[in-house]
Amino acid sequence: MHTFIKDISTKVDQEVTLKGWLNNKRSSGKIAFLEIRDGSGFIQAIVVKDSVGEALWNLVENSTQESSVVVTGTISKHPKQEHTYELQVASYELLHKSEEYPIAKKEHGPEFLMENRHLWLRSKRQWAILRIRDVVETAVNEYLHMQGFIRTDSPIFTPNACEGTTTLFAVPYFDLGEAYLSQSGQLYSEAVISSVGRCYDFGPVFRAEKSTTKRHLTEFWMMDAEAAFVLHDENMDLQEGLIKHIVTSCLEKCITEFSILERNPEPLKAVVEKPFTRLTYDDAIKTLNENGSDIKYGEDLGNDDEVILTQNSEVPVFIHKWPKAIKPFYVKRDPNNDELALNVDLIGIEGSGELIGGAQREDNIDFLLERIKHEGLNEADYDWYLDLRKYGSVPHSGFGLGVERMVRWMSGAEHIRECIPFPRVVNRVKP
Ligand code: 4AD
Repeated sequence: MHTFIKDISTKVDQEVTLKGWLNNKRSSGKIAFLEIRDGSGFIQAIVVKDSVGEALWNLVENSTQESSVVVTGTISKHPKQEHTYELQVASYELLHKSEEYPIAKKEHGPEFLMENRHLWLRSKRQWAILRIRDVVETAVNEYLHMQGFIRTDSPIFTPNACEGTTTLFAVPYFDLGEAYLSQSGQLYSEAVISSVGRCYDFGPVFRAEKSTTKRHLTEFWMMDAEAAFVLHDENMDLQEGLIKHIVTSCLEKCITEFSILERNPEPLKAVVEKPFTRLTYDDAIKTLNENGSDIKYGEDLGNDDEVILTQNSEVPVFIHKWPKAIKPFYVKRDPNNDELALNVDLIGIEGSGELIGGAQREDNIDFLLERIKHEGLNEADYDWYLDLRKYGSVPHSGFGLGVERMVRWMSGAEHIRECIPFPRVVNRVKP
């Protein structure tokens, strides 16, 4: 049995065996300091030439960065640093001596790192981001179950568009012509709620969008939640609760990761404590125009607009009730104003941008048909979706969270490419 570094604080003065990789090595010729990582954490191992003997010492001297190793020794508390432990090496096995590792200690450009993403993932920084991603995903699952949602998932091959026809990836599909990679599982979750009431899917979605911003991937992970009998305001309550739960989890579980990433947790505390701002699209446009933006009523918000609306805010900002003309066909029209839609985008603070898009769905079949025709979509493709409005239609709402956007915000990573293990962007599908 070997020990994981994460459990080392309970093993002081005991002999343990660790299995992992040699992250770094410094040697004076008499004493060597090895940084070992095992996936669960990092620890310094100390090898003293005089006490381990010539053979073991030579093996250590011969070990290169990234070699895989098995190290046995006694755990002691670091003499100066609190919560830090060291291993005094007694025996050492070199499982595989690494070839010269291409990612050196010097700075590398992003293209080089992307090309070597399979190796780059081993860096402390990427390790921390991967772990934050796991905490975010786990928190999403927890919160939705607490709210009575079950995970049902949606298909990836789909016959029709969910979020507009211009960003579809087509793939040949046997004798049936073309299928499309899903842009969002929402439409399917809308069908599933008539069975289970509240459900969500969680998986990769695809956008053939030639955006090369720091916030766009062509393949990203989305969680689409959908709930029967939930109206527009309650839809925002659920989103707010979800974000607060994710942030709370990160604050509790990611102390080490935040410190590796030099991510200041202070701004996240207000997010948990204070209610989110809810701004109508109308008010957002007024605020923007007063603050120097030349955005016109009826236009989508640009990155700069999102910055203006959130830069002095301690909490994320909901922008809701947009003109229906610039929103997808499935969004319910506002019963108080035929031109508006009961949709909502959630814009995060600290430059994180849009985190969630959601809406109350159109449950009236005639209005829905009108929108499908108006958008030039093929009605026959949506016959199954229209059925949902024929057999016990109910008011319902849902929303989609972009997982990497959330991870980017939590980790403070500048670019979204660091927030998924193997990013897919316009100019890269390898490794
Ligand atoms: O706003 P979007 O397009 O909404 C939908 O797809 C709805 N059908 C969701 C629903 O109601 N169930 O996308 C939802 C979220 C965005 O707010 C953003 O966080 C993320 O998905 N997103 C992207 N993330 C990375 N790269 C991209 N290209 C993204 N496009 C959207």
